[in-house]
Formats: sequence, C-alpha cells, structure tokens
Amino acid sequence: MDKRGTVAVDGPAGAGKSTVARRLAAALDYLYLDTGAMYRALAYKALRHGIDLRDGPALAALLRETAINLYPVSEGRVSVVLDGEEVTEALRTPEVNASVSQVAGFEAVRGEMVARQRGMAGQGGVVMDGRDIGTFVLPHADVKFYLTASLDARARRRCLELERRGFPVEVTRVRDEIAHRDMLDSSRPYAPLAQAPDAVLVDTTHMEVEEVLAHVLKICRRRLA
Ligand code: DC
Repeated sequence: MDKRGTVAVDGPAGAGKSTVARRLAAALDYLYLDTGAMYRALAYKALRHGIDLRDGPALAALLRETAINLYPVSEGRVSVVLDGEEVTEALRTPEVNASVSQVAGFEAVRGEMVARQRGMAGQGGVVMDGRDIGTFVLPHADVKFYLTASLDARARRRCLELERRGFPVEVTRVRDEIAHRDMLDSSRPYAPLAQAPDAVLVDTTHMEVEEVLAHVLKICRRRLA
C-alpha cells in the first residue's frame, strides 16, 4: 500500500470506534487521532477552572489559550497532553462523560477544534475518529466508516470499560447517559453526529472486535491501494 490516505471513523458512543480506529491505525502504520479526546480535554479543563458550561464564548476563549496534543504511544494508542500535563485517563471519568457533549455543542468551540484537526490530518496517513469526521472535518477522506451497535450492546461495553478504569456503574445508568449524549450529539445544529452518504455502515452489535477489524482493514487495503 503506497498511498498515505485518510480514514474517517464516526458513530455514536460505545460503538467500538476508538478500539477499531486505534487498531486499524496500528495495522496500516498510520497515526490515530482521537478527536473525542480533544473535546474531553476542553471539558476537563473547563470543569477544573469552574467555567460555566453553558457559556460558549467563554469555552471558545479557554480553548484558544489551551494546548491539546495527541502523542502516539504504542499499538496506535495515544497519550493526551493538556497544557503539558498527561491527562489521558483523567478524561474518562463520569464527570467528563456527563459534560463533554454540552461543551462540544458550541459552534465557536467546534470551529477551532476542526481547524486543529484538519491541520493534524494534513499530510495523510491518519485514522481519525469522532462524530463529524466523514461529514465535516475530512469530507474527502479516502475511506469512511460509520460504526454503530444497539444501545444495549453499547451500554454493556461502556460499563465494562468504566469498570476496568475503576468506575463501576449500573448498566441502566450508562444506558441513559449514552442515550442522552447521542441525543445531544445528533440533534445539535453544528456538524451533528451523522452517517456520511459515502460511509460504509458497520453494525457491531453481534461482532467481536477482531471481526470488525478484519472487515474494515480489508476495505481499507482495497481502497488505499
Ligand atoms: O468519542 P468520545 O466519546 O470520546 O467523544 C466525546 C464527546 O465529544 C462526544 O459525546 C461528542 C463529542 N465529539 C464531537 O462532538 N465531535 C467529534 N468529532 C468527537 C467527539
């Protein structure tokens, strides 16, 4: 495969995007760019600074003076560094989960984030995951995937992930939280969560990660040849 292309992976919370995108990037020897982590980093900083999460201009101003860097670690994993501080794990708490969609809803915040994301994808050789990558950030991506799964399957996966990170939560609570987040993400006026018309739909409800990975990798190898 000679071409250093761009791959977009979108979908709702808990569909397996980050696991698949990270492993896909490692298999293609591409860089994995987790755009959700960028919104999470801003939400985390806003919470720490006591910024009103309903105040879009204040959040956009905060972002302009904020450095968010994604560094590759191993196996496509990234380390998120916020103003020089390693925050990868801190971005996965229930507090950040509950606030991030609100922060990501503001046009001024999204404008700045999208400019940064396009800059990061500039040279190609990237797998970028998020909600609006195929529709808005990289509309000319070489390959686009839209990963989804039933709400129950997504809630179960998120629950296991939170448990692994030391935050055991009731599955019903997680289900309500991701359903609420999906609603906010897909109904916002600016670049909502949506499947691009040219995205390959992958329903992962009854698929193991390895199966999803083999499927998307095959499509990438064909399209990026
Ligand atoms: O993928 P994630 O769960 O880490 O994303 C966290 C939130 O960030 C998600 O609820 C919506 C927002 N987001 C977004 O609006 N646009 C993106 N490209 C990525 C994430």
